[in-house]
Amino acid sequence: MTTARLIALDQILFVLVAAAWAATAGVALAGLRQPAADGRRTLLIAAALCAAAIVVTALRVAVTLGLARAGWWFVAEKVTLALPLVVLPALASAVVSLPRLLRVPPGDAPVPSPRLVAFPLLITAYGAVTGVACGVVVSYPVTAGGAAAVLALFAAAAVVSWRLLGPVRTPHHRWQTAGTGVLALAVALAVGGGRPGGAPHSGHDGGAAAPGLSVDLLRGPAASAAGGPAGARPRVRRFTLTAQPATVRLASGAVDAWSFDGQVPGPVLRVRQGDLVEVVLRNRMTDGQAVTIHWHGYDVPSGEDGVPGVTQDAVAPGQTHVYRFRAEDAGTYWYHSHQDSSVAVPRGLFGLLVVDPAVPLPESEDHLLALHTFGTRPTLSVDGAAPVDGLARLALPPGTRARLRVVNTDTRPVVLGLAGAPYRIAAVDGGDVPGATDLDGARLHLAAGGRYDLTFTVPSGPVLLTAGDRPALLVNGPATPPAAAGAIVDITRYGAATAPPARFDQEITWVLDKTLALADGLPRLAQTVNGKAWPNIPAPVVRRGQTVRITVVNRGTDTHPMHPHGHHVRILSRNGVPATGLPMDTFDVAPGEVWEVALTADNPGMWMSHCHDLAHAAQGMEFHLAYEGITTPYEMGGRNRPA
Ligand code: C2O
Ligand code: CU
Repeated sequence: MTTARLIALDQILFVLVAAAWAATAGVALAGLRQPAADGRRTLLIAAALCAAAIVVTALRVAVTLGLARAGWWFVAEKVTLALPLVVLPALASAVVSLPRLLRVPPGDAPVPSPRLVAFPLLITAYGAVTGVACGVVVSYPVTAGGAAAVLALFAAAAVVSWRLLGPVRTPHHRWQTAGTGVLALAVALAVGGGRPGGAPHSGHDGGAAAPGLSVDLLRGPAASAAGGPAGARPRVRRFTLTAQPATVRLASGAVDAWSFDGQVPGPVLRVRQGDLVEVVLRNRMTDGQAVTIHWHGYDVPSGEDGVPGVTQDAVAPGQTHVYRFRAEDAGTYWYHSHQDSSVAVPRGLFGLLVVDPAVPLPESEDHLLALHTFGTRPTLSVDGAAPVDGLARLALPPGTRARLRVVNTDTRPVVLGLAGAPYRIAAVDGGDVPGATDLDGARLHLAAGGRYDLTFTVPSGPVLLTAGDRPALLVNGPATPPAAAGAIVDITRYGAATAPPARFDQEITWVLDKTLALADGLPRLAQTVNGKAWPNIPAPVVRRGQTVRITVVNRGTDTHPMHPHGHHVRILSRNGVPATGLPMDTFDVAPGEVWEVALTADNPGMWMSHCHDLAHAAQGMEFHLAYEGITTPYEMGGRNRPA
C-alpha cells in the first residue's frame, strides 16, 4: 500500500478507534446503571463492542507500523504519544473489563465494582480521542509543548471520569468547566509550546547588531555599468509593465481581472541570452492594491526578487519600481506579482518570460502556452494572446521541428497529454534536459508554477494537447486524435542521469503538514513546515558556496509544489528511488512522498521559499532561506503581504 493510502487509512482508523471505544464505554456504563437482568444483556453487547474495538486498535497499530517504514517523520507522534495512550488502556480493558463484562453474575446480584469494569474502558476511549487531537495539534517534530498538551488532555479526562464513576457525584457543570479549562490549557501548550525558533527576519535589526550586507545592495547591473569592454556591452531591453484592472472575455463569459498592461497574461517578455533586462513596474491599480514583480524560476540577484517585505516594499498605486537583471540563463520562465499573491496571481497579475539562447534552437516553430484557471474556468493562452476556454488552435508546417513551452500558472498541478506525435521534454523549469528521450502517448504531471518545453516533429496529421480532461490545443485540425492516455512520466527519472554532489555541507529537513499552529497570534489550522506556520518557521541559514541537502517530507493529504526562490534545486531522489538529477524550481511533493534535493548556495540573499499552491502559502507554508550575513531593511506585515 502506498504511503498516501496508509496516511488516509490511518486517519479513518483514528476516528474509528475513538468511536469504537467511546461506544464500548458508553454501552457498558448504561448496562451498569440498568437493573441487573436487563443490564446483563447490555453488558454482553458492550463486551462485543470491546472485542471489535480491540480489533480496530490492533489494525491501527499495524497501519502505523506500515507507515513507519516510509520514515520516522510519518509516525513520531503516533509511536510516542497517540498509540501508547490508546494501546496501554486497551490492554487494561482487555484484561480487566472484558472478562467482567462477560461474567456478570446471573440473577439480581449487583455487578461487582462498576468502577473496575468501566474505568479502563473510559480511559481507553479518552486515550483514543486524545489520539485524534494529537493528530491535529502535534506534527513532526514532536515538541515538549505538544506532548504536554496531549498528556494534559488525557490526564484531565482520566481524573474527571474517575470522579464521575465514584460514589460521590459532582455536579455536572463543575467538571465541564474544569474540562474546558484544561482543554484551553492544552491548546495553549500545544501551539505555544514549541517556541518559534529564531526570528524569521534575521536581518531586521541587523545593521546595529551584526554588520551585514543588505539585500538592497544585491541588485542587477545598471545599463551604463553593465558588461565589460565597450564592444561587449550587453544589449539593453527595456519594458514597462503597468498593473491595472482589466476584463478577460471568455466564450463562457467575462471575468474581472487584474492585469499587466490590460491583458492577461501580461505581455510576453522575450529576450536573448546576455541581454540586460530593465522592467519598469507602474502601479495603476484601483482599490489601493499594491503590486510587485517576482521572476518565477529566473534566479535574479536577491534585490530584484520582487518579494514585498523581504527584497522591497510593495509598490502602491501611483508608484513605480525598476527591476534589472542580466538574462544569462536561457529558458522558459514567468513573472507574477508577489503582493497578496494568493489573490493576485489567480486574478491575472502574471505574464511569461522567455530567454532565447545565444545559439538559436533547432526548432523553427516556438510557441508559448500558459494554462490558467479563472475562477473555475480553465483556459489556455497561446503566445500571450487572450486566453481561450474552448479548444485553442495552431497551424504548424508539417515536417518542421516545434517547441511548445507549457507554463502552469495555476495553483494546482495539471496532467498534460500530447497525442499525435512522439515528443520529448526538452526542458524542465527553464533548464535543458540532457539525454531527453522520445515519449509516445505518455502523459506528464506539471507542478503549479512549473514549466515543460515539449519538442516534436510536426506530423502530417493533427496533434492534440490535453490539460487534465480538457482538450486544450489542437495543432493542424480539424481532425482530432484521441487524447493521450499513457502512463504518467516520472519526471524525476527522465533524461540522462548526472552524478549527485559528492558531499553535503548541511542537511535541512522540511516536514510538511496541516496542523494547529500560531498564525497572526492565534492558533489556527495551518499549512505547516516542521510543525510551524509563517512567520514562526525557523529560517534555514546557509553560507555561500555550501551544498545543502534538503529532505522534503509530506505528512499531509494535500500536494505541495515547493518553490525556493533564487535557486534551482537538483532532484536527488523521490521516495528513496534515485533521480536523474534534473534541476527544478518548483517540485510537487505529493502526500506521503519524501524528496531529497540538492541546493547549491550560489546566489547570496534573503530568499522567500514557499508552497506554490498560493493558498497554502497564505495559510502559513512560507519561510525564508537566508544567507549568513545578509540582512533586509524591509518589514513584513502592514503594507507588505507576500502571500
Ligand atoms: Cu512564483 Cu514566490 O513564487
Ligand atoms: Cu502546499
